[in-house]
Parts: sequence; structure tokens; C-alpha cells
Amino acid sequence: MNVAEALTARLSINNFDASASIDAAELTELVRLAQEAPSSFNIQFTRFVAVTDPEVKAKLKAAAWGQPKITDAAAVFVLVGDLKAHEAYAVRTRAAAAAGFIPTELAERLVGMASGFYNNPAMAREEAARSAGLSGMALMLAAEDRGWVTCPMIGFDAKAFGEILGLTEQYTALMTIVVGKPAVGNMPRKARLATADVLRFNAGNF
Ligand SMILES: Cc1cc2nc3c(=O)[nH]c(=O)nc-3n(C[C@H](O)[C@H](O)[C@H](O)COP(=O)(O)O)c2cc1C
Repeated sequence: MNVAEALTARLSINNFDASASIDAAELTELVRLAQEAPSSFNIQFTRFVAVTDPEVKAKLKAAAWGQPKITDAAAVFVLVGDLKAHEAYAVRTRAAAAAGFIPTELAERLVGMASGFYNNPAMAREEAARSAGLSGMALMLAAEDRGWVTCPMIGFDAKAFGEILGLTEQYTALMTIVVGKPAVGNMPRKARLATADVLRFNAGNF
């Protein structure tokens, strides 16, 4: 399946086959591929919690408006933003300089810029959300390619998810992606706006 095929095959699935399962090796591979998504400075803000335990799924479902796909899908990925990812980035980058992989001056310039942006909590949160979007799309395309179906979801109480999953304050649940096999009765592809209505060249005169 090439990228264009994966993009057009992907659908937000509503009805999942509740008898399907997915193993830890496959979940790990999906995350490994999703990690190829880009991030600002390569800071890598996204963390992934893969939930397959029926009891944990049931708790998540209760905090997600009771959406049945949370328990019916084989796995629930909660994409979590590390709101202090730039601090670990600074440590990594300085270690790379100390080991001689990059010049110290370059490392300090990068750390200075990244800190300048993301010491601002609002910007850190915004960037984490942007990154989760890119990671999530990569994860969904990887899943499609490997024979799974998915649905991205924001219909959940992020604070309750954090409590259920034991997230500390540094981490916030930004997006949920359920993965599994489809049951019958799912909607066909949804139409998109005409490309001519969403594209302008060289100026944004919408
Ligand atoms: C950020 C985001 C949040 C979404 N949240 C939900 C959700 O909570 N529940 C749900 O059933 N679908 C959810 N969707 C799926 C959208 O309804 C779906 O992507 C949209 O209708 C387009 O359909 P398609 O993905 O099949 O092309 C969400 C999609 C996105 C991108």
C-alpha cells in the first residue's frame, strides 16, 4: 500500500469487531513507525499509552462519553504530550555535544532557541498538540498499511484520562486513537470540500 492508497483507504471507523485482538509486538511496531513523524527541533513531545486491558478500557470509555469503540476496538492508544519535552531535549543535545557529535556552539544555539519557545507553557502545550496530530496521522497510516482500521478521537475528558492512566502533571492526554478490525455497518468515505475551495496560490484570499 503506498501513501496515496493509505490516505484514501483510511476511514474513521465507528463499529469495531469486539472479538479482534492485537498483540504488544504489533502495538510496538505501530508506535515505532509513528515516531518517524517530525517534531519541532526533533524534541519528540509525543508519548503513547497503549491500552488493551478490558478493565482500563472500560474506565476510559466512561470518561469518553461512553463511546462503544473504546471497549470494542482491539487497542486504545492515548497520545500524551510531554509538556517539558524541551528540557530533556536540552540534556540530550548537550550530551551529543559533549560526545563530539555536534559542536558545542550549535548545541547551545539549538537549546537556547528551543527553550525560548517552550519555556512558555502555552507554546509548549500548543506544540505538543501539533506533534500529537502529526504522530497520530503517522500512526493511523501505519495501521492502515498493516491491515488495521482506526478512529481518532477527542471526545474524552483529558483530566479523567490522566487520572485513569496515572499521568503526572507533566503529561497531558491530547488525542485518542482506537485500532482494530472493522465490524459491519460502517459509514462509507465522507466527501471532502472541493480542492479549489481550500487552496489558494501565493496568497490567502479565501
Ligand atoms: C481531532 C479529531 C477528533 C475526533 N474525535 C472523534 C470522536 O471523539 N469520536 C468519533 O467517533 N470520531 C471522532 N473523530 C473522527 C471524525 O469525525 C472524522 O475524522 C471525520 O468525520 C472525517 O471522517 P474520516 O476520518 O472517515 O475521513 C475525530 C477526528 C479528529 C481528527
